[in-house]
Amino acid sequence: MHLVSANVACLICSVALAVPTTSPSPPTKVDSLPNPIGTLYPNSVTGTINGTIAVVPIPYALAREIIPSQYGILKKAYKFALPGLPHNMYPLIVRSILDHDVGINGTQLIPDFQSVHIFYPFVDLLGDGYSSFVYGKYLILTGTNTAAIEGSEAYGQIVIPSTFKPENNSYAFSHHHHSPKKGEVFLNAYSNESDSAVVKTKFTPLPSVGPWPLDFYVNVTNQPIFADGVKCDQQITLFNTTLSKGAYAPVGLKGDISISAPYLPSDSTFKNVFGLKVDVAFIENNFLECQSLQGL
Ligand SMILES: *[C@@H]1O[C@H](CO)[C@@H](O)[C@H](O)[C@H]1NC(C)=O
Ligand SMILES: *[C@@H]1O[C@H](CO)[C@@H](O)[C@H](O)[C@H]1NC(C)=O
Ligand SMILES: *[C@@H]1O[C@H](CO)[C@@H](O)[C@H](O)[C@H]1NC(C)=O
Ligand SMILES: *[C@@H]1O[C@H](CO)[C@@H](O)[C@H](O)[C@H]1NC(C)=O
Ligand SMILES: *[C@@H]1O[C@H](CO)[C@@H](O)[C@H](O)[C@H]1NC(C)=O
Ligand SMILES: *[C@@H]1O[C@H](CO)[C@@H](O)[C@H](O)[C@H]1NC(C)=O
Repeated sequence: MHLVSANVACLICSVALAVPTTSPSPPTKVDSLPNPIGTLYPNSVTGTINGTIAVVPIPYALAREIIPSQYGILKKAYKFALPGLPHNMYPLIVRSILDHDVGINGTQLIPDFQSVHIFYPFVDLLGDGYSSFVYGKYLILTGTNTAAIEGSEAYGQIVIPSTFKPENNSYAFSHHHHSPKKGEVFLNAYSNESDSAVVKTKFTPLPSVGPWPLDFYVNVTNQPIFADGVKCDQQITLFNTTLSKGAYAPVGLKGDISISAPYLPSDSTFKNVFGLKVDVAFIENNFLECQSLQGL
């Protein structure tokens, strides 16, 4: 997401000008730990991303239909990273997240927001045959967060202003009366045009991360993001902070995802996909020349 530097400057000055006694109280209870790297990279935007990420195998032909035809797909790279992916399938990624504590040098820049990303990794944006980029057309995002919406539209993404259940958190734990599934988590996203959810996710935790390796999730969440290809967004996600360790180590998941058209070409439900839940810290480098990210 692109934060316009004028906005950043203004936010910082309005914070500086605020009456010291009126410390802004957080409006809501957020279950996510604070940003542990808020002051470690004083010149960069940092934050945390808590949520789920899942690999949804789709036919290669469907991915080829969705990813703009001028860009190649780095098939060898994802096959190497995902041994066991069925032949002729492509790893679509669905990431449902809460962006929390996003700021610069310890000053929060924008309110927390939720989003669902339906994205296409391993895209050969530069046509060099080896640099992997993520293509993302639609972004389902908290409708009240103007800064996050504008920041995403700056890359040419189509933002769908939405609400989420649970609100203001990355997911919630469901309670079953009859067959209690311990720790089952869910998140639903609703756009303004519809009473029914446009995206639903529901996962049961697994004893370990698999079958897709943790490294794969680290890899795809570090590929630079583009939509119209004019500028690129680099999010460096860190899986090695206190947010992702010990009691908070990544947990493997298995579950079901439903996505409505037009966010996929037709209404689609995917059963028994694998993913994980994790909270990560990130450093974001905005509005870069895509060419400058060659080799990632
Ligand atoms: C979610 O956050 C928004 C904005 O901070 C707040 O207005 C709203 O009341 C919160 N909702 C819940 C359920 O906490
Ligand atoms: C991530 O969010 C979930 C759901 O709100 C919460 O239970 C968990 O503690 C959070 N993780 C961290 C590291 O804050
Ligand atoms: C970051 O914040 C610290 C403490 O407020 C301040 O001393 C330092 O100058 C700031 N660094 C930058 C690059 O703004
Ligand atoms: C969504 O609809 C509600 C209720 O009609 C309205 O108050 C809100 O402004 C709409 N939000 C957006 C982002 O369009
Ligand atoms: C992701 O994996 C591919 C294939 O191994 C590799 O070429 C690329 O550099 C990795 N990208 C990142 C951001 O780690
Ligand atoms: C955490 O990982 C990042 C890159 O992924 C690396 O630059 C950093 O040195 C690591 N930090 C620690 C404490 O290992």
